[in-house]
Amino acid sequence: MKFRRSTPLKGEITVPGDKSISHRSVMLGAISKGTTSITNFLEGADCLSTIDCFRKMGIEVERKPEEILIHGKGLHGLLAPSDTLDVGNSGTTVRLLSGLLAGQTFQSTLTGDDSIQKRPMKRIITPLTAMGGEIKSIRDNDCVPLQIQGRPLKGIHYDSPVSSAQVKSCVLLAGLYADGPTSITEPYVSRNHSELMLRSFGASVTSKDTTVTIEPEPELTGQKVIMPGDISSAAYFIAAGLLVPGSEILIKNVGTNPTRDGILRVCRQMGADIQLLDQKEHCQEPAADILVRYSSLKGTEIHGELIPTLIDELPVIAVMAAFAEGTTVIRDAQELKVKESNRLDIMVHHLQAMGADVTPTEDGMIIRGGTPLHGATLDSHLDHRIAMSFAVASLAAQGETEITRADCVNISYPRFYEDLQSLQY
Ligand code: S3P
Repeated sequence: MKFRRSTPLKGEITVPGDKSISHRSVMLGAISKGTTSITNFLEGADCLSTIDCFRKMGIEVERKPEEILIHGKGLHGLLAPSDTLDVGNSGTTVRLLSGLLAGQTFQSTLTGDDSIQKRPMKRIITPLTAMGGEIKSIRDNDCVPLQIQGRPLKGIHYDSPVSSAQVKSCVLLAGLYADGPTSITEPYVSRNHSELMLRSFGASVTSKDTTVTIEPEPELTGQKVIMPGDISSAAYFIAAGLLVPGSEILIKNVGTNPTRDGILRVCRQMGADIQLLDQKEHCQEPAADILVRYSSLKGTEIHGELIPTLIDELPVIAVMAAFAEGTTVIRDAQELKVKESNRLDIMVHHLQAMGADVTPTEDGMIIRGGTPLHGATLDSHLDHRIAMSFAVASLAAQGETEITRADCVNISYPRFYEDLQSLQY
């Protein structure tokens, strides 16, 4: 896929439904009584992997043009899977599903693609084992494939060393099947979609500071879930609008949950012209239209509790920083090393290949912005967020950029390139 410096980006765009909320709506729908209807479900490869796993456990999923219907079987209604559960590229599927499977009465095996087979699973094996779960890494390397023998679970308190919504959600879902309350404390609050959705389906979940507690054996009832657009997908249009001179983009109906809106805060720190319009709320998830205008950006500092609220947006934020005046320092972002790719290494490498002044650090990078960037040939490493971040970088760089293996955007945003093109005249 080839890209050149862009003319102003103008117009309106609607990004696909939120990936995190899409996964959770299928999972909770499956273990609830009655039907869950999901509007604006993200039909990306990751969420389709989640659907596929639940179909293998006897859940009927109807895909209609306007909605997806999950015919739930209740908390104890899943069947032993007919086959190995294949999570594809999806960390959310494997980690959340493991929590759900640990307390079942059957055995299951989970596997996935090359990238997922390298990602750390010890972070979920440790708390699930403490709850009495039996989770085995088949190759004994704390990675997928995992074999899970369902066991009666006990409620525990877990102090998580990482701020990770996948770990937190895994523990909460296992807690549904425990013999008493289960709680988890994380260093900083990570995205809270599981807590919000569990509550709306009927679970008793309380949050205080960085601790969440769940009571076991609730009666969960299917709900109508209306998905906001994914702020992680909107991020590419926010960045493109800010970086390409003369641009003005209205991004419709984007989720602005405060545990996810770090990119908006950072953009404002950088001096961006961004407005939130038509603010609303669906299923306790806030959303708004985001109006972005080209702005001259300045460098900033990003660290601490801000990091979990923009973890998936850091690649495109690093791109913005490369075009900003002054220095941007990103710290506390070591989690980026264990995402779909080692995003810290790849961001530094690709930004340097385009001529940016970037120095890697232990847990982040220092970007001295303002050096003009030029085109380069860059591999996506089959990481959707790397491909989209550098598509955006190329729109504001001199010359031509080629992104190889660019079609990995189908993981979270199958129509990304078409949508980007629709804003160019
Ligand atoms: C997600 C949590 C985050 C994020 C991922 C989606 C979720 O991962 O990077 O894309 O839906 O819970 P971690 O929990 O590993 O930080």
